[in-house]
Formats: sequence, C-alpha cells, structure tokens
Amino acid sequence: MRSAAAFLALLLCVYWTRAQGESGGVRENDITQTEVQSEILGVKATSDQTNITPDIWAELKELRDMVIQHSLELREMEQENTDLKSRLNTAEKMVEELKRENTVLEARMSSNEFQVEELKRENAVLEARLNTAENVVEELKRENTVLEARMSSNELQVEELKRENAAIQARLTASENKNAVLEARMSSNENEVEELKGENAERPKVAFSVGLTDAGEVGPFNTEITLKFSKIFTNIGQAYSPTTGVFIAPVRGAYYFRFNGFETRDTNSVGIRLYHNGEQMTYSFDKVVNNGYVNVSNGFVLQLEKGDMIYLVLCAGCSVHDSTYNRTTFSGFLLFAM
Ligand SMILES: *[C@@H]1O[C@H](CO)[C@@H](O)[C@H](O)[C@H]1NC(C)=O
Ligand SMILES: *[C@@H]1O[C@H](CO)[C@@H](O)[C@H](O)[C@H]1NC(C)=O
Repeated sequence: MRSAAAFLALLLCVYWTRAQGESGGVRENDITQTEVQSEILGVKATSDQTNITPDIWAELKELRDMVIQHSLELREMEQENTDLKSRLNTAEKMVEELKRENTVLEARMSSNEFQVEELKRENAVLEARLNTAENVVEELKRENTVLEARMSSNELQVEELKRENAAIQARLTASENKNAVLEARMSSNENEVEELKGENAERPKVAFSVGLTDAGEVGPFNTEITLKFSKIFTNIGQAYSPTTGVFIAPVRGAYYFRFNGFETRDTNSVGIRLYHNGEQMTYSFDKVVNNGYVNVSNGFVLQLEKGDMIYLVLCAGCSVHDSTYNRTTFSGFLLFAM
C-alpha cells in the first residue's frame, strides 16, 4: 500500500511540474493542483493510520479518471498553448511591423511637425503682411474717397469747360467765317492795289513851277510876247519848255495852272493873258500907282487833250519884274488823266 501511495504522489508531482512549466500561472491549473495535493494529504493521512479501507481502490480509480481527465485537459491546453504561441508570434511580427511603421510614421511626424513650425512662422509673416496690407487698404480707401470728391469736382469743371469750349468754338467758327470773308475781300483788295499800282506806275507824272528871271525888269515891248520862264524850280515830266515858254499836255486829263506877275515901276501896267492852244482864258491886268507895286494872278482847272498847249503872253506896252525873290511865276500839274 505504501508503494502505491508513493507512486501516486510521484505521478502527481510529475504532472504538477509539467503543468506548472508549460502553462505557468494558469488559474485553472492552480485549482487542480490544490485539489490533487488535498487528495495526496488525504491518502497520506489514511496510510499513516495503517488503516487502509477497501474504498482505496475506488479512490484510486477515481484518481486515475481524474488524471486521465487532466491529461485530456492538458493536451487541450497544450493545443491551446501552441495556438497562442502561433498567435503570439504573429502578434510579435505585427508588433515589429507596427514598430517599423511607427518609426516611419514618427519620422514623417517629425517632418510634419517641422513643416508645421515652418508654416506657423510663414503664417506669422503672412499675418503681419496681411495686417500691413489691410492698413494700406484702409489708407487707400480714405485716399479714394478724397480722390473721388476731387474727381467729382473735376468732372463738374470739365463739363463747365466743355460748355465754355463749345461757346468759344462757335465764336471761333463765326470768326473764321468772317476771316474767310475778310481774306477774300483782302485778296480782292490786294489785287485792286496791284492794279492801281500798275495804273499809277503807268500814270504820267506832270508838275512844274518856274520863275521868269533874276534879271529884274522885263518889258514893256511894242508887241505882246510869250513869257519864257527860265528859272526851273520843278519840271517833272518835262512838259514845260523854258526855251519856247509853252507847256504841252503829255496825256489827256484835268490840269491846274496858276501864274503871278509882279511890277514895282510907277505907272507901269501888268497885263497877262493865259492861252489854251489859240484860245485866251484870261486877261489879268493891274497898274502901279502912287509908287506902290502890284501882283497880277489867276488860276484855272483845264481839261486838256494830249498835245494841247498852255502858255502866258505879256500884253503890248506891259511889263513885269522878277528877281531872286521869285515874284513872277508860272505853275501847273496834272490833276488826273482821263
Ligand atoms: C528863289 O528861288 C531860288 C531857287 O531857285 C531860291 O534858292 C531862293 O531862295 C528863292 N528866293 C527867295 C527870296 O525866296
Ligand atoms: C504882291 O506879292 C508880293 C510877293 O510876291 C507881296 O510882297 C506884295 O505885298 C503883293 N502886293 C499886293 C498889292 O498884293
């Protein structure tokens, strides 16, 4: 009996050790171990009393069934262990894999954090610039308002100036029209002036003034004589001849003539006839009395044909006097040609 109990104890010991080694710390096994130990103590107590009952076989049988049962459970647990190991391996691989991924993600995270810092800094700069820009925008808005006001004012002025311009334009147009008319008239006038210049250039210039003599007394003579004035003051056109004493009209026209005869000798008579061709135009006469002196003079506008003759005749028995004082003179000029 003692050997059987010892064997049983050994068997339980082996079983317990294996169970402890392979599934270390499983609660279910701990319970089983406690129960088995209790059985062993029970067997020991019984064998110590050396009073083994026939029930022992039944108990052994029960114990054997328990062992079988525990073996089955043990196999089951071993299977479970294998499964758990496999799952553990898989899990460990996954952990490794996740660690690697973690490392990568950490690196990326670092990089992202760096980028975030960078972006924060950029953000700060951009915010500062944005503030500045907003200030500038406000300033520009204010300036815009001022400029709009000035613009409005300018537009009014522009409208005003446009109106003034239109008025000035109208006046300018009128003025230009007047100018055109005046220019036309001016042009016409210039033509007329040119024509007149031409006519003037063509118009004969005739004017003379002559004195009789510096010799003093002329006459009296028995017959009348043509007075030949020898002192030429002017003789434009040479129409008066001092040689013959006759003026010959170079063109048809209106002429003016005048003469003066002077005498100082007491009782002498001054009688002067003015002739147009053979026709006498005047007989002007005077006589010196009381030791005085006389002037005989007259003047005519005469219409002459070209070649007409004008001359002065001193009547028979008459006399005149001339000296450096130029008191007996004859003058004439063309008023206008016809
Ligand atoms: C008379 O006419 C001459 C020019 O021919 C002039 O020099 C002179 O002064 C005149 N004599 C007088 C007294 O005016
Ligand atoms: C005549 O004319 C001379 C100048 O030529 C003048 O001195 C004199 O007084 C005049 N005599 C008369 C009566 O008009």
